[in-house]
Amino acid sequence: MKNINPTKTFSWKQLTNHFHDVKNIHINDLFNIDKNRFHNYSILFQDDILVDFSKNRITNQTLQLLLMLAKECFLSDAIQSMFTGHKINRTENRPVLHTALRSKFSNTITVDNINIMINVQKELKKIKKFSDSIIQGSWKGYTGKSISDVVNVGIGGSYLGPYMVTESLKFYKNHLKIHFISNIDGTNIVEVLKKINLETTIFLIASKSFSTDETISNANYLKNWCLFRTNCLKYIDFHFFALCENTTAALKFGIISENIFKFWDWVGGRYSLWSSSGLSIALSIGFKNFELLLHGAYIMDQHFLNQDLSQNIPVILALISLWYTNFFKTETEAIFPYDEYMHAFPEYLQQSYMESNGKSIDRSGNLVTWNTSPIIWGQRGTNGQHSFFQLLHQGTTFIPCDFIIPAVSHNPINDHHKKLLSNFLAQTRSLAFGNENNMDNNINLSNPDCSSHVSYKYCSGNKPTNSIMLKNLTPCNLGSLISLYEHKIFVQGVILNIFSFDQWGVELGKLVANDLFSDLLKNKFNNLYDSSTKGLLRVYKKWI
Ligand code: F6P
Repeated sequence: MKNINPTKTFSWKQLTNHFHDVKNIHINDLFNIDKNRFHNYSILFQDDILVDFSKNRITNQTLQLLLMLAKECFLSDAIQSMFTGHKINRTENRPVLHTALRSKFSNTITVDNINIMINVQKELKKIKKFSDSIIQGSWKGYTGKSISDVVNVGIGGSYLGPYMVTESLKFYKNHLKIHFISNIDGTNIVEVLKKINLETTIFLIASKSFSTDETISNANYLKNWCLFRTNCLKYIDFHFFALCENTTAALKFGIISENIFKFWDWVGGRYSLWSSSGLSIALSIGFKNFELLLHGAYIMDQHFLNQDLSQNIPVILALISLWYTNFFKTETEAIFPYDEYMHAFPEYLQQSYMESNGKSIDRSGNLVTWNTSPIIWGQRGTNGQHSFFQLLHQGTTFIPCDFIIPAVSHNPINDHHKKLLSNFLAQTRSLAFGNENNMDNNINLSNPDCSSHVSYKYCSGNKPTNSIMLKNLTPCNLGSLISLYEHKIFVQGVILNIFSFDQWGVELGKLVANDLFSDLLKNKFNNLYDSSTKGLLRVYKKWI
């Protein structure tokens, strides 16, 4: 991957000039000028996912210049480098190959002269065999009973992906109850323990490093709790499983090697739901559906890899987002799934985007002078409408949004889904076009007339959105959608000249927490702490 300062490219300079020309153009005008705007600014993927990016503040020229920027930053080469296993995660000296996990048609992908596909296939077979045995009830717990509950113990990528997918695909769920323990807050563990029967529960300790404090502290607590409650040393062999890269640490913890599901250092934590780390998904929806999820991601991978940049969905969405963050200087981007099952999708994307591209040092080691990741937030529709959408319509800033909806509902009661869709369409329409044309009175914004309240009702529109419509929320379509966002984030990282696959910033918090924890244990505090930290500790000591 080349290290190119994007702001020094010819296209960036052109984009800067172009921005001054188009920044005040209204989306309304763009639709008036081009009667085929929807047709020209939308892409249908596999007859299953429609991506409509027409309601954006972009012209043909904007897109051409953004595509030129992608070329100047050698995006196509970077894509090839990722898929073929080059060590593009340079700060950790690793390839980035989550795409290999869903690449069942590739027989060979080599890392350090070793064909990784052999182990990928082997681990998939192990997931299949194990998930089948748990679901069919042939795997028995220590008292000979079949399994009814699965507890995934993990945090960050070892939680957010599996949690989001199991929630999104709840419609496909079998009888197994899936629980998640992620937080070091004891409440998380205590509340889950209230719901389960140790005889019929398995624990998946999901941690790539098998050293994350939250996960290992929770796992240790559970191990001791289970041994104490069951008084059976063999309990761990029947009920504890590790999903990890660091098998040595898992063995040391006491998990037998047959119960270790492996993945590899070339799978980033936030990209690991496709690996053994996604075992809770295979257990929840069955291996066949897990395979369909992988397949959905695979077909989006192929689109990303082979499609011309101008028709490439992750590329187009990445470029439009970059246009807003770097030229309009927007700071946030919102994700609104109009599907109750997808409630965890914004939270999942927060880690994917912000842990990947929340960086300020470029690939040459210099401080960036451009904006990197937007702040990602969101909420399921329609709930968000009755909370913060007011600001989207009439606030002082504009926030680019992605609206996502399945055309066909899994739960079509009465006319609910038509109402949901009406709201989805109404919001993107109102955000784009406002109500200027619908207002009866002439509005004088410099002299708001409180008595008629006309000016207070004014919505300017010109707020950009992407509409992503899935035919339905199937494992396959969800796989494609997740892969779409993964690649969108990758494209932005490439062009913004940052390393998307490390997360050194997170480490600082861990180190500082460790220092404070050892002080708390000793009940002796470092006098060098700032006055705020010291003040908080003083009150804490008084209150406990
Ligand atoms: O601290 C951040 C992080 O490293 C994430 O990137 C990762 O997903 C999470 O912690 C959990 O890490 P692990 O799977 O190694 O426990």
